[in-house]
Amino acid sequence: MITPTLPDLPNIRYRADEAGTAWLGIDCAGSSVNRLSRNVLDDLVTALEHFSRQPPTAVVIHSCKPSGFIAGADIDEFDALDSPEAARALIAHGWDAFERLASLPCPTLALIRGHCLGGGLELALACRYRVAVDQADTSLALPEVMLGIFPAWGGMKRLPALIGAPAALDMMLTGRAVDARKAASLGLVDARVAPRLQMRAAEGLAHSGTRPRKAQGAGRLLNLPLARPLVMRRTEKKLNQRDPYQHYMAPRAILEIWGRHRGNALNAPGLIDEVVRSGTASNLIRIFRLRERLKAFGKASTNAEGRGSLHEPGQGAAAPPPPGIREIRHVHVIGAGTMGGDIAAWCALHDMKVTLQDQDRERIAAAQGRAQTLFSRRLKETRQRRGAMDRLMPDPLGHGASHADLVIEAITEDLDAKHRLYAAIEPRMKPGAVLATNTSSLSLEALSAPLAEPSRLVGIHFFNPVARMPLVEVVKADGTDPAAHAAALTFVGKLGKLPLPVRDAPGFLVNAVLAPYLLEAMRCVDEGLSPETVDEAMKVFGMPMGPLELADTVGLDIAHAAGLQLAGAGGAPRCLQSRLDRDELGRKTGRGFYAWKDGEPVKQAPGTPPAGLARRLISPLVASTRERVENGIVADADLADAGVVFGTGFAPFSGGPLHWERHMAPSVTPV
Ligand code: NAI
Repeated sequence: MITPTLPDLPNIRYRADEAGTAWLGIDCAGSSVNRLSRNVLDDLVTALEHFSRQPPTAVVIHSCKPSGFIAGADIDEFDALDSPEAARALIAHGWDAFERLASLPCPTLALIRGHCLGGGLELALACRYRVAVDQADTSLALPEVMLGIFPAWGGMKRLPALIGAPAALDMMLTGRAVDARKAASLGLVDARVAPRLQMRAAEGLAHSGTRPRKAQGAGRLLNLPLARPLVMRRTEKKLNQRDPYQHYMAPRAILEIWGRHRGNALNAPGLIDEVVRSGTASNLIRIFRLRERLKAFGKASTNAEGRGSLHEPGQGAAAPPPPGIREIRHVHVIGAGTMGGDIAAWCALHDMKVTLQDQDRERIAAAQGRAQTLFSRRLKETRQRRGAMDRLMPDPLGHGASHADLVIEAITEDLDAKHRLYAAIEPRMKPGAVLATNTSSLSLEALSAPLAEPSRLVGIHFFNPVARMPLVEVVKADGTDPAAHAAALTFVGKLGKLPLPVRDAPGFLVNAVLAPYLLEAMRCVDEGLSPETVDEAMKVFGMPMGPLELADTVGLDIAHAAGLQLAGAGGAPRCLQSRLDRDELGRKTGRGFYAWKDGEPVKQAPGTPPAGLARRLISPLVASTRERVENGIVADADLADAGVVFGTGFAPFSGGPLHWERHMAPSVTPV
């Protein structure tokens, strides 16, 4: 058996076995994660050139990194593209490399363990076979759409051919990941195997002579050229519903390239140019990096200020936790209302032991009911659901406070009530335990007044609804113990949320910037514009929800207490005050700025928003964000943008309010 020899390649480890199988281990130099940069692709092409001249009996591509298979292409290279020509060259590089892989004269197989994303999945798709290792972190996805780009290295051609058009479009247009089990049921992989069997299974399948998989049935028919126009029309309709003002062009480009250009972006150079010129992709890549930066705060950190550049994700996470940081295993939540009940459930979902206290037993029971719904949605197996329910313990008398590593107070927003509670709870807390408040508008300084150990108090400010909102502000005052703050950041990270370190100030970051925005929207209503028209202006701008619908959703009493008091001068707008007087508090009472039916606002047709309305509404939000950075409430402008995007849903394609103001506002016509 003659097996080819390869020159030394910096990013690939090669070995040939007795059966003539070439094992190509991707092992990106200087990184713990495999990413397909230009250099890595070059190494792959070199190997493939050798194999096409001297084919081994089979090629198995696997990863040498414990972190997973391949995490995608190198985003920095996308981001550095400065012209449509450069973008086309980068696309051609990957496309040609994977065409070469697909046309090797010998069987090829991708052995997928851990993440297999973007370019990594496109590489796997170019192989004749795929085996997925059945373990918890195995996930396959084409997430390019989330970054405003498309899977241009063959994914748009090969995925629909393999699993059929509907399933492939769903994956490509949402970026959603599938696990090994789902990948096998879709036909995306030929087999899923236990970790210990992976090498043998890969080798066996590579030599089996089995015919490569292809889509079957309706999935195959809908991928035929004749059916594509129909599928395109149907999918376009859905895209228009999801993004009526066309802020995101990548999904439409993907559909177009699949439907009209046989999945090859190089046949649609105009679309590549548009995507590069729009700036949306670079803003979404920015948001992706910001998310990574926030995540890093959740990994045991002492650098809770989070100062650092956007291009250094992970900064702030490198230092080991200071000695004495307590791992949070047991959380005691006081207040089983809207927030406390849902925070408790979320902690139990994330494997923590939780005791839930309220003066009102019915509130605890109601919170348990909501928790059950959450667990049944999020956990597949009955055993897991039961486990989560068992971890969430009703504790009306508050015994758990003496044993918990973290006590979260989420009672009514009333300074005196919170003071009385702290006075009763603190003496019972164990040494080193952290006390956190979920307050939205009271300052830590004021709250900590009756505490014997004020340094143990931090703010852990969740947003409503807890299960859906990704951001949590983690607040520290001047006297806060850094270890308590660090423990809170790590706790939030363990909950799968994005922790944003902020300094103590009324409204912290998110509520403080929302308040003047909501206030301005209400002033517009006082001036005679309909809520529908005001909300429409912001949806056209790119917000997921208009400000008045948002106020109704949060609750007008909460918006008033948490937000509008902060905005100060002039008191509440008339339109708000009159609704508060009539006890019309928004969604929860069925009426606010809108009437609410089945959880949805009933809206009339909006009028045409006057020119400049969106800019008028956004300006106070932008100004307030800037002011929070200048006052050091949040460490820098990038983190402020991250907080506003993840805390309010502020149009991600804009890159965040301050980024928008710097880069986009000057060039757009008044909206
Ligand atoms: P809520 O009114 O729904 O629940 C408060 C709960 O605390 C009630 O069940 C009440 O019985 C209980 N409670 C009051 N005093 C107590 C005491 N001394 N001991 C034990 N239980 C007591 O209030 P919600 O909305 O959950 O707010 C709680 C905290 O979270 C407040 O500080 C609020 O500012 C903050 N927050 C609220 C948000 C929201 O959208 N509702 C968002 C973010 C923070």
